Amino acid sequence: MIIKHISLDNYRSYGRLDLDVGPSVNIVYGNNAQGKTNLIEAINVCSCTASHRTSTDRELVKIGEDGYSIKLLCHDEVYGNDTELQASYLLENTPKNSSNKPKRELYHDNMKIERISDYIGVCNTVIFAPEDLNLVKGSPSGRRKFFNMLIIKVAPSYFNILNGTNRILNQKNICIKSFKGKTENIDNNALDFWDFSLADMSADLIMYRYRFASLLSRKAAMHHSVISGGEENLSIQYMSLSGSTELLERSLKEDGMYDRFMEGRLSEGDLSGIKRILSDHILQKLQNSRKNDVEKGISTIGVHRDDLDIKLNGLSMRGFSSQGQQRSASLSLKLAELEIIREMVSNSPVLLLDDVFSELDAGRRTSLLAGMKEAQIFITCTDRSYIENELAAFLMTDVKPNYYRVENRTVLPEV
Ligand SMILES: Nc1ncnc2c1ncn2[C@@H]1O[C@H](COP(=O)(O)OP(=O)(O)OP(=O)(O)O)[C@@H](O)[C@H]1O
Ligand SMILES: [Mg+2]
Repeated sequence: MIIKHISLDNYRSYGRLDLDVGPSVNIVYGNNAQGKTNLIEAINVCSCTASHRTSTDRELVKIGEDGYSIKLLCHDEVYGNDTELQASYLLENTPKNSSNKPKRELYHDNMKIERISDYIGVCNTVIFAPEDLNLVKGSPSGRRKFFNMLIIKVAPSYFNILNGTNRILNQKNICIKSFKGKTENIDNNALDFWDFSLADMSADLIMYRYRFASLLSRKAAMHHSVISGGEENLSIQYMSLSGSTELLERSLKEDGMYDRFMEGRLSEGDLSGIKRILSDHILQKLQNSRKNDVEKGISTIGVHRDDLDIKLNGLSMRGFSSQGQQRSASLSLKLAELEIIREMVSNSPVLLLDDVFSELDAGRRTSLLAGMKEAQIFITCTDRSYIENELAAFLMTDVKPNYYRVENRTVLPEV
């Protein structure tokens, strides 16, 4: 997909912005705090309905305004037509939204979209921001967010499973809290009801996550090997409820099953057989943890605690690796994300590079640029001449970057 035009209304520092953008490399430069990241973030929010910087939508509304709206006019390279995406958000109790709740709306070609899974994936983006370099070092929730987003972009129906699981988990936690920490108050029937649904959805989730973690591991290992000059062996292991990945692997032992599963070609019958085995296992784990959960007042185990164990030469990176190794591995994970989306989605993703060049050394910058190939790219930086020099060696002679200067909260196209 190629973005042709960006319109913003009251998004962060912007009042009204209308901007035509180029089909290849778009360089957005300017001094600090002028709105470069805000522009990149807006593209990402409109594409995948989530900001890479915050999970609080109201922060995205220009201070003093009632809501924001972002529109992206895109060109679909596969079908050859233009298509428009719009994401808007209205604060509660405002003239346009008299309800007590904020209102988020998504439109595709002016048609209101009710399910996020029908919206994400129309125009995919892959964002590289300084925060991403902490993927390996950072919290499990950061890795879960990265990983969930990757799967949603490739398989949007995963969003419904994730959302459904979170909804049931919230209900179950309300139920657990109602026992006020006392095991004698436990209503097993009520908890059975939530655990049956939770085990069923968690089994689906684990199957998706296992498959994508294996793909990610394979691709990230290749990138990391190049970045580290063949010295280091990166691997990613999906960590879920104890015993579930081993159980899944055992269920896929039969001839050719693992390969068919990885390629998404396993029959419905085989899939539902494996799902049943997994959900029985999960249910038992959840039930075994019941007393502990009630005493602690929260679900202590479950897929909401899943993580990716990232290893270098067999050792967990969080404990054993240097800062530089962690940054290289984080970059490898992002490049793997880009490659998976490219391979599995017909429309190529738009790349958003927010200020990452200043964070990387020459070798890693080369790896990053080599992974970019012919996609539409938005790059932010503070210095135009620096980025011109950086890109000179990578751009085909017929690719002419478009330059935009961001100043006083507006964006000025330059020649
Ligand atoms: N909701 C909002 N309403 C109004 N202004 C906002 C809002 N959110 C952020 N800003 C302002 O946007 C500006 C920051 O913009 P942004 O992060 O895009 O800067 P930048 O150009 O990327 O700077 P840097 O080079 O430091 O990364 C700040 O001045 C901040 O106060
Ligand atoms: Mg910035």
